[in-house]
Amino acid sequence: MASNIPIYIIGAGGIVNAAHLPAYQIAGFNVQGITDIDMAKAENTAEKFGIPKVFSSVEEMMKQVTGKVIYDIAVPGSQTIPLLQQLPEGSFVLLQKPMGESYAEAKQILNLTRTKNMHAAINFQLRYAPYILAAKELIAKNQLGELNDVEVNVNVYTPWNIWDFLMKSNRVEILYHSIHYIDLVRNLLGNPQSVYAKTTKHPSMPQLASVRSNIIMNYGDMIRANILTNHCHNYGIPKQQSYIKIEGSKGAVVINFGALINYPRGAADSFEYVLLEEGKEPEWKTMAIEGSWFPHAFIGSMQQVIMAAEGKIEQPDNSVEDAIDTMACMEAAYLSSEKGGIKLSDVL
Ligand SMILES: NC(=O)c1ccc[n+]([C@@H]2O[C@H](COP(=O)([O-])OP(=O)(O)OC[C@H]3O[C@@H](n4cnc5c(N)ncnc54)[C@H](O)[C@@H]3O)[C@@H](O)[C@H]2O)c1
Repeated sequence: MASNIPIYIIGAGGIVNAAHLPAYQIAGFNVQGITDIDMAKAENTAEKFGIPKVFSSVEEMMKQVTGKVIYDIAVPGSQTIPLLQQLPEGSFVLLQKPMGESYAEAKQILNLTRTKNMHAAINFQLRYAPYILAAKELIAKNQLGELNDVEVNVNVYTPWNIWDFLMKSNRVEILYHSIHYIDLVRNLLGNPQSVYAKTTKHPSMPQLASVRSNIIMNYGDMIRANILTNHCHNYGIPKQQSYIKIEGSKGAVVINFGALINYPRGAADSFEYVLLEEGKEPEWKTMAIEGSWFPHAFIGSMQQVIMAAEGKIEQPDNSVEDAIDTMACMEAAYLSSEKGGIKLSDVL
């Protein structure tokens, strides 16, 4: 999997240290440089991960870097557009999710990358988590048959207060969290016909925007795709749960993913599946999966950009051209929630 194309990182914050660089170490990717507006953070990160070059600024990085490289941007969303403007024409770039803070910003990012002929991808990486890759392998081999049900169900306690910027954000749960599940459902089933949603605040976090969401991605009469999240289950660990369930005509998968349980400690994942056999009782089996969402899924999103840079694929599967539709679903979910359901007075 190792690649020689040099990677240059912009932003040396939490996610780069916790997931990008550990993933790239596992994969053997070639990280050559890093910068951050906080030079000490860039230096500490470079030392920790053996990155040869620390640049004092993005401008310095742009002056000194030559040849075909990949820029890996992981800064707060508000900085994405100004940074993209500084990158050269035709750059290969991986941007942290979300793709801007609204669909309007996502369109600006898309237009900018198109105008500058960039090969840009978004780090919606759940679709590359090892347990998702295992499920996709069963799907590709037609072992699950036609998919007719996808459900993501999360009931955990998330200490949102550790992310300062969320306190000021008028969108929290869907934009920063359920967007991973929306992207996953799209990756499995394609674009929905429409999106219904209700996203709700919580009395214990009144200063925050909505933190619990029910999202129905509408694929017509025969396919159900639901995302249910409650991040406010502050009643201890025993009833915390988070699973992804995929059902098809010939089999099903249930992935219990542990990343959010007892946050930030996490818990073990499990991957269970059943393949229906005529005349036999369904028998659930467990598959051992190496690696987890954090950090291993981050290999996949960078791998796509590397393969595009190496000319092995036309464009990354997580390209901005694809991610824009995940952003459209996110926007549709908020609009649906604002609009509300059918009023009883319209029925009575
Ligand atoms: N894909 C995921 O699962 C995931 C998880 C967590 C965070 N994120 C996203 O990653 C991004 C960063 O999150 P984080 O938790 O690492 O935040 P953070 O605050 O820990 O780190 C951001 C870093 O960017 C630096 N920075 C800010 N503006 C900059 C600029 N113009 N040039 C260079 N450096 C700059 C800051 O100094 C800081 O070190 C956010 O967009 C967040 O939404 C994604």
